[in-house]
Amino acid sequence: MAHLNRLFFALELPKALQQEIVRWRATHFSPEAGKPVAAANLHMTLAFLGEVSAEKQQALTDLAGRISQPGFTLRLDDAGQWPRSRVAFLGSRQPPRGLLQLAALLRAQAARSGCWQSPQPFHPHITLLRQTDSALRLPAPGFSWECRITEFVLYASRVEQGRTRYQPLQRFALKKEL
Ligand code: 2AM
Repeated sequence: MAHLNRLFFALELPKALQQEIVRWRATHFSPEAGKPVAAANLHMTLAFLGEVSAEKQQALTDLAGRISQPGFTLRLDDAGQWPRSRVAFLGSRQPPRGLLQLAALLRAQAARSGCWQSPQPFHPHITLLRQTDSALRLPAPGFSWECRITEFVLYASRVEQGRTRYQPLQRFALKKEL
């Protein structure tokens, strides 16, 4: 059988912001709150592609390379949780239109290429903790972090020595804002 890679398109967070998020998380959550996502793995998914062959990867990256969308500023000023999937996350109270358009395009391209897409609406988020305790109550965020987004990234999700690692495979530049 052809080799398959588990792939997704996402926004990479600057290292300094990943570190800030980890510091905030460490001061607000006890070790029992849930399983923390490693600093280097903190990202915002745009479109999950699933297990993809090399041919399909090529077709998807050809399509992604034709996207001509402007960059945007991502503001992280919201924290939330999904008790059923037991996830705590950071997000934006008002996600920028550029982010929503980019994710919609990538998800439509993925669907047309035969990658199953969740029927749930896109809810931009950065997963902070998994397997959260059912009693977890999220603190108010008390911050507003901003970062400029100038590209999006195709990642492969790999498990190495029992740990999940997201490996950037290809970067796609967004247009400069006028
Ligand atoms: P999550 O953080 O909300 O779990 C890599 O697995 C990335 O793709 C994660 O950010 C994950 O979102 C996202 N993703 C979306 N749909 C997924 C699915 N069906 N299975 C695994 N990951 C998915």
